[in-house]
Amino acid sequence: MSAWHKPSSPFLKSFARRLSRGLSSKDKQLFALLMPRYGLDSDSIAGFDFSAYEAVNFELGFGAGEHITGLALRHPGQLFIGSEVYLNGVSQLLADIEQHALNNVRVSTGDGRLLLSGMPDASIDNVYVLFADPWPKRRHYKRRVINQALLELVQKKLKSSGRLVIATDHMDYAKWIESVLSASSFTSMLPDKQPYVTQSPEGWVSTRYEGKARAFGSEIRYYVMRK
Ligand SMILES: C[S@@+](CC[C@H](N)C(=O)[O-])C[C@H]1O[C@@H](n2cnc3c(N)ncnc32)[C@H](O)[C@@H]1O
Repeated sequence: MSAWHKPSSPFLKSFARRLSRGLSSKDKQLFALLMPRYGLDSDSIAGFDFSAYEAVNFELGFGAGEHITGLALRHPGQLFIGSEVYLNGVSQLLADIEQHALNNVRVSTGDGRLLLSGMPDASIDNVYVLFADPWPKRRHYKRRVINQALLELVQKKLKSSGRLVIATDHMDYAKWIESVLSASSFTSMLPDKQPYVTQSPEGWVSTRYEGKARAFGSEIRYYVMRK
């Protein structure tokens, strides 16, 4: 079994599943072919050269990677690093990397918090945490990936001009996020320093998950924070 199958992490599990269906032979081929070239893990990230890129972006929990693919196509000079433990989603991003010959994307199948910990301090321009699993039951709140420890880690890894971008369609999680953000030193970059907006910020790339939430009529809150 390849290394990308075995994430080990000191963090409490913040995700539900690694697979919803077995990987097809095409998926396996994509992993075998592309992960040696595009894969990163918490060890290899330390030696990765960011200097060739205009900006460095990191998305924690990219789902099927639509947000990364959209931005990577729009900004070929920037680097987009994504982590996602759900292998069927990773496989979709790998297919898009292949289809669009995206050289500015790197992928991790491990815990995004571990990958982020391995990145140099003050090296990232944008961190995205979009529609993180809400863990609605009180006894599972401790699994919510957006918490004080994550904000402290993000703060350390962002450049001084760096941004943290969060979105959620789950209103209980939204209140949780607002409380964690207001206890931190992050400040809103939104017009009039609003804590959040309900329309996607300009230039936004939507994901399928987000489209479904909108079609369902759910409120979506977007947070754009400066460290
Ligand atoms: C509800 S989905 C949203 C996916 C995507 N951001 C979107 O907007 O379509 C949340 C994703 O975060 C992933 N996830 C949760 N905790 C993670 C972690 N610690 N590291 C990497 N991925 C994680 C889950 O596997 C899941 O696919």
